[in-house]
Amino acid sequence: MLDKIKTISERIEAYTIETKDQLEQFRLEFLSRKGEITALFDDFKTVAPDIKRAVGQELNKLKVAAQNRFDSIQEQFEQSTDSKHTLRATDLTLPVIPNQLGGKHPISVVHDRIVEVFERMGFNLSEGPEIEDDWHNFSALNFPENHPAREMQDTFFIEKNPDVVLRTHTSSVQVRVMENEKPPIRTISPGRVYRNEAISARAHCMFHQIEGLYIDKQVSFSDLKNTLYHFAKELFGAETQIRFRPSYFPFTEPSAEIDVSCFICNGKGCGVCKQSGWVEIGGAGMVDPNVLQNNGIDPKKYSGFAFGMGVERITMLKYQIKDLRLFTENDIRFLRQFKHIQ
Ligand code: DAH
Repeated sequence: MLDKIKTISERIEAYTIETKDQLEQFRLEFLSRKGEITALFDDFKTVAPDIKRAVGQELNKLKVAAQNRFDSIQEQFEQSTDSKHTLRATDLTLPVIPNQLGGKHPISVVHDRIVEVFERMGFNLSEGPEIEDDWHNFSALNFPENHPAREMQDTFFIEKNPDVVLRTHTSSVQVRVMENEKPPIRTISPGRVYRNEAISARAHCMFHQIEGLYIDKQVSFSDLKNTLYHFAKELFGAETQIRFRPSYFPFTEPSAEIDVSCFICNGKGCGVCKQSGWVEIGGAGMVDPNVLQNNGIDPKKYSGFAFGMGVERITMLKYQIKDLRLFTENDIRFLRQFKHIQ
């Protein structure tokens, strides 16, 4: 009897099951009421008592093995969508299905490039919380209370407590760095920021900025210009020019808007730069002495520059993406286009 169990067990293992018909055949042959295993159980009654225990164990093992094989293949059929009722998985001659690897999100691609360029210039990385208090987001940055400048940025207040906000810009991290470090300070602070805006192709309630801060003795506006000029050439190409337009931010004096020559048309004028030859990438300026003072740095001894730029904005310009919402929709057809850009 043990020999019989062994041969059936070998046959079960070697049995080819590639179609549903073969699976049914397998069931009839071994597991059905008229199947061979059932017959063995009948024979079992006649086995000599002294070996009954050992034979019984083997017989049970055989039954479980046959049942398992049946169940697992049946499950594979259930999951397979093949209408011909065949198991493709068993066709070892088919070519390998290529492994679909993911890629970096376009925002990460540009973020990483920007960080890399500034790191090579000796800037370190700093971070701050996305849920901020009024002091770090506004007051310490020289936004007086109830001053209309606060309305430049539509703010999300949380917990009905006007002191707790979702940071509207990464300039809040400047304050945290100044609190914790002594000059010389040379840092960039990338991160997510929030504005209470209706979502459209051109505006979003959540986006990314990269803030830069440099404080030391005798830091001048020309240091700011040269730093950003070098950055623009590294990121957009050696031909790139920059220009500053006078602007206003409470935390810098003087303040400027930073434009780079349009890297799509090289300044000749195109749809991206609206025929002007220039595109805006962020704001900058010399750190206002009040801000230094607010954060315990002596403005008589030290000066500094700061800048902030939008990562989405730069990414949209660089890859000519016309709708901000694409960045957060996770449409694989959109994301796949950036797969090969590192
Ligand atoms: N925080 C400004 C904004 O979100 C951008 C900015 C402008 C940052 C000038 C700066 C700066 O550090 O100096 O619009």
